[in-house]
Amino acid sequence: MSEMNDSILITVVGSGYVGLVASACFAEIGHRVLCVDNDEAKVEMLNAGRVPIHEEFLPELLERHGGTGRIQFTTDLSQATQASQAIFIAVGTPQSETGNADLSYVDAVACEIARSIRSYKVIVEKSTVPVYTNDWIRRAIERNGVSRSLFDVTSNPEFLREGTAVRDFLHPDRIVLGADSEGAAALLASIYAPLTTGSYYENPNAIPGSRSVADPPPILQTSTKAAEIIKHASNAFLAMKISFINVIANLCESVDADVQHVARGMGLDQRIGGRFLSAGIGYGGSCFPKDVAAFRYVAQQLGIDFNLLSEVEKINERQKQQFFQKVRSALWTLRSKRLGVLGLAFKGGTDDIRESPALEIIRMLLEAGATVKAFDPAAMERAKKELEPGPAMQYADGPYSAADNADALLILTDWADFGRLDLEKLRYTLRYPIIIDGRNLYDPRQMQELGFTYLSVGRPSPHISVEAASTKRWP
Ligand code: UDX
Repeated sequence: MSEMNDSILITVVGSGYVGLVASACFAEIGHRVLCVDNDEAKVEMLNAGRVPIHEEFLPELLERHGGTGRIQFTTDLSQATQASQAIFIAVGTPQSETGNADLSYVDAVACEIARSIRSYKVIVEKSTVPVYTNDWIRRAIERNGVSRSLFDVTSNPEFLREGTAVRDFLHPDRIVLGADSEGAAALLASIYAPLTTGSYYENPNAIPGSRSVADPPPILQTSTKAAEIIKHASNAFLAMKISFINVIANLCESVDADVQHVARGMGLDQRIGGRFLSAGIGYGGSCFPKDVAAFRYVAQQLGIDFNLLSEVEKINERQKQQFFQKVRSALWTLRSKRLGVLGLAFKGGTDDIRESPALEIIRMLLEAGATVKAFDPAAMERAKKELEPGPAMQYADGPYSAADNADALLILTDWADFGRLDLEKLRYTLRYPIIIDGRNLYDPRQMQELGFTYLSVGRPSPHISVEAASTKRWP
């Protein structure tokens, strides 16, 4: 959207969450983008205008810039490398058995890029990777015979969250550029200039968000190693905040205090901050579990005691089991109980079920002999591949049909719609008016007034009233 004469030709390798969103957003701020993926079917799908992930504003941006050719999808990395000035690597870095990041995809891409370099390129690591990965990429490229003067390797970590990825990219808290050469840093800075100068936000068609021309995002230039650590440390810190509040929630529960009051009281201290202090059933998703494990492994390799991270992981595991126990103690036994479940995605606003605590809890319930009828607005197709539909595992077409004649309703994902249910309707749809909410979406007092036995996380809950639990369908 900025002037085309500032336009830089960028290759983005990988069309997953980070790669696809980055491609669309680079095009949105005025660059020309070649998005490369070795999955031919996916490239074909993207070129046909179909979007493989559920992400607000992404279809609009892909349509806006796909039509003009400003963003193109291809399988030809060699040609894309030769054509572009900057090459962003945004391929997966899955977790290996030891917890460390498996960098084989990054390695393979680096070698392939190396074989095509004919003129100076800035290679940018955007996937979340352990410290020193930049060095390994540089060595891999040199090993393939490319002169050191023909490339620089930099780090530009991405902090986007699923569900709000486009907004997070275009309205970031900060832009971190890790570069060990001034030339490479300058190219990266010019790529982000439409955001950092604020010019993007002047455009009437700009995606709305928290940033504006008066308050553009700051840019932080660091060494490549510091940038790599910033990404891991940020995710590990956020995961720690969640585990911390989850332990506080358990503590609150045992003294009948409300964790939301405690979180608010803590969060108002500007040194702590109120975000990422929502207690629940633990964190999931494609980043936190993997990144905490990878960062723990990095520390271990460097001989640094970072057991704090192992505790963060342990608390997170325990939180799911604790919720399962809560369901069990509310229902006494689980065998043959019919449970309605709202939510399969690892959080609201996404169809992603990777490391979803909801799925793990459902597995525990099924193992204990319960039958489950689940609903999720976006993640059902994906979930069906993990938890095959059958007599014990059914999928509903809406929240009330999930609740229909159920012994209890469980809320496992924080979709906004799950916090706005018609409670009267729900009460007579359920067999027993019992709701066990792993995301604290309702006010316990109001729920009690409405006749529900309502259990949540870290908040005072009425002892299960025998009358409520034995009341059959309401009229
Ligand atoms: C995260 C980081 O936030 C992002 O910066 C990084 O780039 C990728 O990883 P994402 O995985 O999309 O993003 O989700 P996020 O919104 O951070 O939530 C992660 C998990 O923590 C979810 O399961 C969510 O339900 C849980 N969570 C989050 C809580 O349990 N409590 C909170 O207060 C916040």
